[in-house]
Amino acid sequence: MAKGKIVAGFLAPHPPHLVYGENPPQNEPRSECGWEQLRWAYERARASIEALKPDVLLVHSPHWNTQLGHHFLGVPELSGKSVDPIFPNLFRYDFNLKVDVELAEACAAEASAGGLVTRMMRNPGFRVDYGTITTLHMIRPQWDIPVVGISANNSPYYLTLDEGMGEMDTLGKATRRAIEKTGRRAVLLASNTLCHWHFHQEPLLPEDMTQERPQSYEGYKWDMRMIELMRRGETAEVFRLLPQFIQEAFAEVKSGAFTWMYAAMGYPNIPAELHGYGNVIGTGNAVMEWNLDKHRKGLRVNDQPVAA
Ligand SMILES: [Fe+2]
Repeated sequence: MAKGKIVAGFLAPHPPHLVYGENPPQNEPRSECGWEQLRWAYERARASIEALKPDVLLVHSPHWNTQLGHHFLGVPELSGKSVDPIFPNLFRYDFNLKVDVELAEACAAEASAGGLVTRMMRNPGFRVDYGTITTLHMIRPQWDIPVVGISANNSPYYLTLDEGMGEMDTLGKATRRAIEKTGRRAVLLASNTLCHWHFHQEPLLPEDMTQERPQSYEGYKWDMRMIELMRRGETAEVFRLLPQFIQEAFAEVKSGAFTWMYAAMGYPNIPAELHGYGNVIGTGNAVMEWNLDKHRKGLRVNDQPVAA
């Protein structure tokens, strides 16, 4: 079997508003419009996925919470209705997805060997969280590529940030080894919003875009600063600032997907492509791509973030 590889990573946030704004047949609520900049950003990302032709999409979601260990979807096919508990008025989605169980098991085994507590999720009636579903729908609405779903064990919230991020780094490196061993062409999806300061009240019409703007000017400036660094491939600086960014912008990257993805990719110093940025109920969201295939020549795999 040929050695597998990660062909790209994406920052692929999961506000359910994006699915609501698009009106796919799977989602029950209907909208008039909304959040177009982000939806068009995802259209660009969809074109990249089409060109990359991955065997599998791996997604790490903050809204599948498993405090005891890192869990992996382990049922070949899952279907049901996914509902956002915060925005049930916007997201009631009938999902049907296929899981790459062999790769998921390999990820769990490698993570376990790396010292993490892991568990395969074998419940056939499991209701997949809205973070996983929204990210997957927005990046590949055809649902024709198998997936690996990884939970957020929230260690950065109940251990120190350093310890928690250390677990995400280990999880990322384990994911990379599993992909290489199983021969997959894989795409990683970090399902994270950037600045997470948000409004506490929804407009009467949720898609009324005259009401949509950053909730926090400081948070907005943080997002622009971090995006600019990522666009320049300044990975060491991104990770030097990450704890302060998390603290001051209440950034959702704290949940670990972002670090997991970067670690799996080998903390590359390649420029990320920004497909688009937008606010959702005041939070900051960027759809970004690290195309390792395009930058494969001279690409270094690092154990930790290093200066370019
Ligand atoms: Fe979220």
